[in-house]
Amino acid sequence: KNTIATRIMKNTLPKFLLFLAIASFGTAVAQKQQAIPEVEALLKKMTLEEKIGQLNLLTPGGGVATGSVVSKNVEEKIKAGNVGGLFGVSGPDKIRQAQEIAVKKTRLGIPLLIGSDIIHGYKTTFPTPLGLSSSWDMNLIEQTAQIAAKEATADGINWNFSPMVDIARDPRWGRIAEGAGEDPYLGSQVAKAMVRGYQQKDLTNEATMIATVKHFALYGASEGGRDYNTTDMSRVRMFNEYLPPYKAAIDAGAESVMSSFNDVDGVPASGNKWLLTDLLRDKWGFEGFVVSDYTSVNEMIAHGMGDLQAVSALSINAGLDMDMVGEGFLTTLKKSVDEGKVSEETITQACRRILVAKYKLGLFKDPYKYSDSKRPKRDILTDANKKLAREAARKSFVLFKNENNTLPLSKTAKIALVGPLADSKNNMLGTWAPTGDPQLSVSILEGLKNVAPNTQITYAKGANISNDTSFAKKVNVFGPRLEISEESPEALLAEALKAAENADVIVAVVGEASEMSGEAASRTDISIPESQKVLIRELAKTGKPVVLALMSGRPLVITEELDLPVSILQIWHPGIEAGNAVADVLFGDYNPSGKLTATWPRNVGQIPIYHSEKNTGRPAPSEAFEKFKSQYLDAPNAPLLAFGFGLSYTTFDYNNLQVNKKEIAQGEAIEVRVDVTNTGAYDGTEIVQLYLHDVVRSLTPPIRTLKGFENVFLKKGETKTVVLTLEADDLKFYNGSLDFVAEAGEFEIFVGGDSNASLKETFTLN
Ligand code: NOJ
Repeated sequence: KNTIATRIMKNTLPKFLLFLAIASFGTAVAQKQQAIPEVEALLKKMTLEEKIGQLNLLTPGGGVATGSVVSKNVEEKIKAGNVGGLFGVSGPDKIRQAQEIAVKKTRLGIPLLIGSDIIHGYKTTFPTPLGLSSSWDMNLIEQTAQIAAKEATADGINWNFSPMVDIARDPRWGRIAEGAGEDPYLGSQVAKAMVRGYQQKDLTNEATMIATVKHFALYGASEGGRDYNTTDMSRVRMFNEYLPPYKAAIDAGAESVMSSFNDVDGVPASGNKWLLTDLLRDKWGFEGFVVSDYTSVNEMIAHGMGDLQAVSALSINAGLDMDMVGEGFLTTLKKSVDEGKVSEETITQACRRILVAKYKLGLFKDPYKYSDSKRPKRDILTDANKKLAREAARKSFVLFKNENNTLPLSKTAKIALVGPLADSKNNMLGTWAPTGDPQLSVSILEGLKNVAPNTQITYAKGANISNDTSFAKKVNVFGPRLEISEESPEALLAEALKAAENADVIVAVVGEASEMSGEAASRTDISIPESQKVLIRELAKTGKPVVLALMSGRPLVITEELDLPVSILQIWHPGIEAGNAVADVLFGDYNPSGKLTATWPRNVGQIPIYHSEKNTGRPAPSEAFEKFKSQYLDAPNAPLLAFGFGLSYTTFDYNNLQVNKKEIAQGEAIEVRVDVTNTGAYDGTEIVQLYLHDVVRSLTPPIRTLKGFENVFLKKGETKTVVLTLEADDLKFYNGSLDFVAEAGEFEIFVGGDSNASLKETFTLN
């Protein structure tokens, strides 16, 4: 019988059940995230529009806009409850003003997240991340992140868009400069150290800020090294080689994740449910919030995923919580809810995550927590911070070649200091340092004078970074980095050669301007520009000792230069203390100890190139050409400079490699010991590296892959026994079913000072 009661039941029951399901799902998630009563109470008061407002992240401009749009009418939007966070604004007073608008002028008074890109230091700029990773010093890296957090929070910022942990094996991609290079093991250690540094143990501490692991995921695998390009790879490669650093950062407690620009399996990351929900939340248990990259939701239109309403709905349903700059969420989500394309609960859940972040920061207790105008003076650019920047810089340098032991230089030498980067401040900080002031940096010329006031230095520019005016224009979008002199290249060169005439030694500071690497700075030719090559060739011909201090954000092709009779010290873009740190190393106050974290190719044709390659079925037994082996006709397989490589003013010997057991059971760790001796004439630090080869397994294994390292300081003549532990997990890999397993059988280990380490031991996993 169709009574009124049953009709009501029929119509409302499904909705009621749905409501129950959604409500209980909501509480389940809230419980999993330890429902925070203040947040839950607030959510109950919020209208749908107010919740959507929290998902909107804007930048009023003034910082670096990394897309073609900057937000308009920001103040009105905050007042209308349409903004959850801002970035690109700083200074305690400005931040206080912004928070006052949010707190006093909106119905619910919810404070704002204040984001920023603090990639390698705030005002005290440290070396670019690829350089910093070359220190292999996790305490140091953590300290730099901690100082970055202290300075940034003093200036009002509570949320950092760092660490960037994208594995990169293609140096054409300019953003290789922003990460820790090619290796997932090292990359994971760096990721953890940075998260610890930014967030420490307690986000309510006023000197900490939220870390954002980015760019999730696989951004470093952009095809052809062209920025923002397509990525496509197998799941096993993803899990074994590209995903570990993101996971490590999340396991270390990173509260936020930024989705990347690229697509993954054909779906842009910002709208990829497999990535943002199935993997990130369900498999990895991430409970923080996900923010899009700059207008990456809108960019899904260009990717071919539909109109703004469709891509916004796709993104929020995929698990994206906050929309950076594009306002697709703000302008279309309400409509999508009305049309049943997005559930209100999905929006509530995204909003909950953002409110939880604000709660964890302590913003509900005190929205002005980061607006103490006394802090900048006290915490920013202190002597201690600059001291750390100098230490970080000198530990990042990698010595490639020391021709006739030219280095270290005498502090009374007559030096011809030449090269377009020798007297530059604009290029010392490197890419992604918009919060730093290049004019505060120490040029190389100044640094040499500071550290060795008794040297006689004659300076000449010698060459332009490049003579190509259209190239210069592209490099100078953020200001003058590549300045072409009015003097002719011939006149510049003549001045340099003149300066060299009376010198004991020539120091040439050459390489890339800071914006020749970084975002939207891909290059197909990664050699030193021809203008500088000419200078280097001519200097080498003088017969005088020549030292190249080589600056770059990425691995370069320096095959020609390495062949010349010159010494080469790779100095990346060293940061605010550039000149002082370079002088410390050139004069031997610090013995260089950095090692490469990304392979340097011989030529662009070898790319992608990385140490953990597989054997193939037709490996070449040597570089001698054999038909039908995996080789090139026109170049060797070996890179120019291997992963892990870096020289010192002293030398190190490795002996007595031992394992504590020849057989181990599943779940057991193994201890590896090696004696390292400083056999040269200087005290120095060696980075001892451990590589593993799983001899037979169900998926083709890498020939060797990094699984441990230790920095050890040795006085000249000193020997130390270094103990490295291979944990049970270090033997594991993701198999064809994506299970993380260690398969029984033989393992080989190699220990030494780079990825060509030859000292070998074996053990068996039963
Ligand atoms: C775009 C970059 O890809 C990302 O790394 C950065 O955090 C945002 N712009 C915000 O500036």
